[in-house]
Amino acid sequence: MKLPYRDVYEKILPYVPGKPISDVQRELGISNIVKLASNENPFGCSDKVKQALTDAITNLSLYPDGNATILRERLAKKHGLKQKQFVFGAGSNEIITFIAQVFLNAGDESIYAQPSFVWYDTAVRSTGATPVAIPLKEGTHDLESMKNAINDKTKIIWICNPNNPTGTIITKDQQDAFLKAVPSNIVVVLDEAYYEFAQSDNYPESVPLLEQYPNLIVLRTFSKAYGLAALRVGYGMASPEMISYLNRIRPPFNVNTLALNAAVAALDDQDFVQKTVSETKLGLTQLYRAFDELNLNYVKSHANFIWVETPFPSGEIFEKLLHKGVIIRPFMGNWVRITVGSKEENEFLLKALNDVLP
Ligand SMILES: Cc1ncc(COP(=O)(O)O)c(C=O)c1O
Repeated sequence: MKLPYRDVYEKILPYVPGKPISDVQRELGISNIVKLASNENPFGCSDKVKQALTDAITNLSLYPDGNATILRERLAKKHGLKQKQFVFGAGSNEIITFIAQVFLNAGDESIYAQPSFVWYDTAVRSTGATPVAIPLKEGTHDLESMKNAINDKTKIIWICNPNNPTGTIITKDQQDAFLKAVPSNIVVVLDEAYYEFAQSDNYPESVPLLEQYPNLIVLRTFSKAYGLAALRVGYGMASPEMISYLNRIRPPFNVNTLALNAAVAALDDQDFVQKTVSETKLGLTQLYRAFDELNLNYVKSHANFIWVETPFPSGEIFEKLLHKGVIIRPFMGNWVRITVGSKEENEFLLKALNDVLP
């Protein structure tokens, strides 16, 4: 007799993370491994974080500050928002789940780009709502088709900017026009996980738009440019009303003390973030040049990863590189996503690519 699992879960596959280094070590017996699969920070995190963690470790027997008071104060100041405009999650991933839970009923629709961050699909399906996936056009969000997909059932539209996995952006003008066209009763999520890397003058500053658009929520994370992926801390910025609803399903103490203290210390070290961003830019140039020489097709990136086409099906090139000690992320067709590593890691990748390409 089958247990009463909800029907919607039949169509959800578990999230497949980038393959951990320890798995490859164990499975293939290789010791020298570079992971370029999860858009992590190859430069680690700020030294200030390490001190903050040492300080926090004396308080492990106490529950965390469920209100994230200090982090909230710092971020409100940084972004020029009210403290009531922040919700915190164990990664921005968790906030994506909160948003879907708060706004979607079975039978509703929710629009996102394809390919884009896969968690939108899981979060939407888990509510019983119907995902409406709009294929990218020339590697970027097809905002016109996304707009045309809106109907009476549409409740949430997800925009990933820069987009994971393609690294493309929608520009300020495109975003402004889109927001104007979306009915004000539809929630628009601007997932800006890679915000710090997007240095183009055309990249929008979305936070000031919150005043004009109460249907907007902007997501940021400490997992990428701040290098705190292991600690799990991200945040959403929206109207106090929307935040008050999201907080209704936020589990108690969802962001732990180490993560909260680390995030505050990381915010205090913008030099580290700037160093990460400038080194990543150099890494992008290093990889573009090499990919040109290797005749690989790729999309210029506004983030810390590159969407690349190789002559092999994505699963095949993934396996070939794995055996050379490089973990990348296979996607679809011949396209893979490769995180920009440190200069040395990029060199290691390029050597492996040289070995496996025909
Ligand atoms: C676009 C995007 N949004 C959100 C996330 C979730 O990040 P986290 O939960 O670590 O904040 C990721 C992680 O890779 C991402 O690529």
